[in-house]
Amino acid sequence: MKSSQDEVHPLWDDFCRDLEPVSGSGELTALKDKYLSRSRGLVSLELRNLKALSPQNRSEAGRQLNALKARVQAALSKRQAEFKEREHRLQLETEQIDVTLPGYHFVQGGLHPLRQVWREMEEISVRMGFTVMSGPEVESDYYNFEALNIPTGHPARDDQDTLYLANKLLLRTHTSPVQIRTMEKQDPPLRIVVPGRVYRRDATDATHSPMFHQMEGLVVDEGITLADLKGTLEVFLKELFSADTRVRFRPSYFPFVEPGAEVDISCIFCAGEGCRVCKGSGWIEIMGAGMVHPRVFQMVGYDSEKYTGFAWGMGIDRIAQLKHQVDDLRLFFENDLRFLRQF
Ligand code: PHE
Repeated sequence: MKSSQDEVHPLWDDFCRDLEPVSGSGELTALKDKYLSRSRGLVSLELRNLKALSPQNRSEAGRQLNALKARVQAALSKRQAEFKEREHRLQLETEQIDVTLPGYHFVQGGLHPLRQVWREMEEISVRMGFTVMSGPEVESDYYNFEALNIPTGHPARDDQDTLYLANKLLLRTHTSPVQIRTMEKQDPPLRIVVPGRVYRRDATDATHSPMFHQMEGLVVDEGITLADLKGTLEVFLKELFSADTRVRFRPSYFPFVEPGAEVDISCIFCAGEGCRVCKGSGWIEIMGAGMVHPRVFQMVGYDSEKYTGFAWGMGIDRIAQLKHQVDDLRLFFENDLRFLRQF
């Protein structure tokens, strides 16, 4: 006859029957509770009942119960491990990534070609010791014309050229008003450049736009001469285009400078040989410049006996057109991506 020690406790069969259909961790915990919970567990109850047995029977039955308890615990742990393993496998299956899938294409933006040229012009200026300034696009007649020695009746004030707003305001027709605004606030010496938008009442075509961009420059100090103007602009233009660019000054008239000049560079397409772009002349007009008119200094309260200076203004769009060989100004403002992506 087998000793009771070798016999499996009858609860084991119950437990096995209960364990069989268990399919998840939650049910498993409930099952563990049913058999092993300290207060209500079936095995625990049996263990508590041992007290009622005689000492000989008690140790036998105790061993049997402890063996049962160990088997139950082992069976629970094994099933628990199986669940864990299944969960992990499921996770691996559902979370797998296909590393052969092509990646997303993130479209990267870029600076507009005009902004690129604008920045390049600023950078050259800063390297040369200039400070970058800005001013309002909505201006008064005083800053746009009057203080710049542009008298009433001057053709530049004409309705044909200027976009007037209400209350005697207007859209600045050039960046020159910032010369006045800066000189009103600062004493010489002064070395500034002013890039910005300007507006004129022009019909749009390949070379005209009602809004375009200029960069103004102004230098004021004691003893500034026309030679400084020529040297400065030559250095700037050689940096901007190329070291072999030649620069030419032609006398011209702007009310706020005296003498005034129109500045040409040797044609960057034919190196001065003469081509379609320079219309056979070998030169391309690039900016207006001149020595600051004494009356302009007087308008801002500078001592025109003590100080001299020079100023210039050039079209950023025009320079971008030349640098990138864009023959129609409108391309810069239409924002057609096929055009913009080339820069
Ligand atoms: N303001 C002038 C223009 O709009 C350019 C210029 C600036 C000329 C400074 C001389 C000196 O055309």
